[in-house]
Amino acid sequence: MIWALLIRVEQRLNSTTYLSIVADQVHPIMLMAYPNGNGFFQQDNAPCHGAHVVQEWSQEHEGDFTLLRCPPQSPDLNPIEHLWDKVKRAIRQLVPQPSNLTELDSASRQAWYQIPRITFQHLVESMSRRITAVLKAKGVPTKY
Ligand SMILES: *[C@@H]1O[C@H](CO)[C@@H](O)[C@H](O)[C@H]1NC(C)=O
Ligand SMILES: *[C@@H]1O[C@H](CO)[C@@H](O)[C@H](O)[C@H]1NC(C)=O
Repeated sequence: MIWALLIRVEQRLNSTTYLSIVADQVHPIMLMAYPNGNGFFQQDNAPCHGAHVVQEWSQEHEGDFTLLRCPPQSPDLNPIEHLWDKVKRAIRQLVPQPSNLTELDSASRQAWYQIPRITFQHLVESMSRRITAVLKAKGVPTKY
């Protein structure tokens, strides 16, 4: 089962606000979806994500899920880029365009929840293929 939730971040993202999202929103979802601790949480390595407080927090909750680290700027290993692309395209087609944050929020949500489950499923299944391709290419960008 794949959980594909979109969480709106109200504040500017820094290590404190990122940690509160991980602790208050991601953690309970992971516990619910993977009660045996066999889930993976993939974050990209934007600076706030790698921040010390977040590392410490995830060490304290080690048994609850596996934290996947990705090399920074590695879109080939970050399936979210593919999904953002779909959301952006759907929004670009709207007439009229969203004119404020509230409208942008609801348009993004609508686009996100219209992505078929199978798309998420395929992205998850493509991960081992992506990793193999990146390793083979020794970090040079691949077709993904
Ligand atoms: C992050 O931002 C919040 C509110 O925007 C602020 O209260 C907090 O001190 C900031 N944390 C760091 C580490 O800069
Ligand atoms: C956003 O724009 C819509 C349409 O112009 C308007 O009805 C709505 O009140 C606006 N919301 C905010 C929070 O400004």
